[in-house]
Amino acid sequence: MRMIILGIETSCDETSLSVVEVTHTENPTFNVKSHHTNSQIKLHEEYGGVFPNLAKREHAKNILPILEITLTESHLLKKENTKLNEKDISLSKGYLDRYSQLFDDLLSFVSSHQIPDIDYIAVTTGPGLAPALWVGVSFAKALSQLWNKPLVPVNHMEGHIFSVFAEKEKFTITKSPFPALALLVSGGHTELVIIKNWQEYHKIGQTIDDAAGEAFDKTARLLNLGYPGGPKISQRAELARKTNQINKDFKLPRPMLHHNSYNFSFSGLKTATRRLVESNQPLDEDKINKIALEFENAVIEVLVTKTMKAIEEYDIKTLILAGGVAANKYLRDTLKKTLQTYHPHIIFKLPDTSFAGDNSLMISTAAYFNIINQNYPSDISTIEANSNWSL
Ligand code: KG4
Ligand code: ZN
Repeated sequence: MRMIILGIETSCDETSLSVVEVTHTENPTFNVKSHHTNSQIKLHEEYGGVFPNLAKREHAKNILPILEITLTESHLLKKENTKLNEKDISLSKGYLDRYSQLFDDLLSFVSSHQIPDIDYIAVTTGPGLAPALWVGVSFAKALSQLWNKPLVPVNHMEGHIFSVFAEKEKFTITKSPFPALALLVSGGHTELVIIKNWQEYHKIGQTIDDAAGEAFDKTARLLNLGYPGGPKISQRAELARKTNQINKDFKLPRPMLHHNSYNFSFSGLKTATRRLVESNQPLDEDKINKIALEFENAVIEVLVTKTMKAIEEYDIKTLILAGGVAANKYLRDTLKKTLQTYHPHIIFKLPDTSFAGDNSLMISTAAYFNIINQNYPSDISTIEANSNWSL
């Protein structure tokens, strides 16, 4: 059995759409027909972070052109007039009532093309930034109404979990030994999740304040390195690490390292970094690199230590690392090395760095599991964005 899924992701600063054809077997195979992501990083750079209303405006501007490109590349778009019924038009107008220009453009697009041969529309409904999420959700509802296709809501963090399988053209999900443990680290989340089976999740710990990615971003701002901070800090840390610049004058705490829980806290680390920056004025390149190194070491020591503890307590068979921070080379290498040393039998799954950040391929992949488990509502009017949706 085959199904074609159109995936839509707008939870933060990437507008991403993709079309995959899934062959539904015990080991489902995903054929990527097209995948397009528009990043707003350049625009948000001057705010030093993602500015929600700007993100909303950009998503609303880009989502339809990206849909058109994605469908064209998938050979699913044919010019032909389609007669729409008044009821569908009026309902979809209601779904897009806050984006009247987008509705007008969508209506003219849909009426001038054949209804494409897709089976499902999948959309991220949370967690994420509410104004950004709502663009994707409203657009997907309107499209679902006009095309008469089922709409499947997807949890963004579940999407990140499936990003470890994503490949550019084609990928297969083979049975992983369970229980698995996911370390999910992104700009908005830091959590440890036990996976008993796909779609059976149990969160055992999370950050009580800032997320790991957020800590990278804020620290980069303190060091004047720009946004997003993760890659910038990581480059600086790598420079210092190469020349072995560990220095006891640049010491930062390891928050909650020995705390008897799987929770994390990174806001104290940010404050300590600020103090370090203030007491080392004027900063020079060398000091910046050393602070970046100590900061990265501190974050990753905490992440790795807690992950290893959970692996032992829950008799974990597969470790999954995902989320934007999973692109961090030192985190990837340290987890791999630590596993090889202490738990060489554990399977380690992590995303290709090009799929660590937000993308819609991971959303379509997670949607497939919602579809086969019939885990989506039949009445699309009940679908809403939920910025705090927890796994
Ligand atoms: O998953 P993601 O793309 O968006 C959210 O859902 O939040 O994650 C973005 C986060 C940002 O905070 C960014 O600084 C961080 O991932 N990040 C990194 C690296 N690349 C991206 N953090 C550490 N090291 C990196 N190489
Ligand atoms: Zn994300």
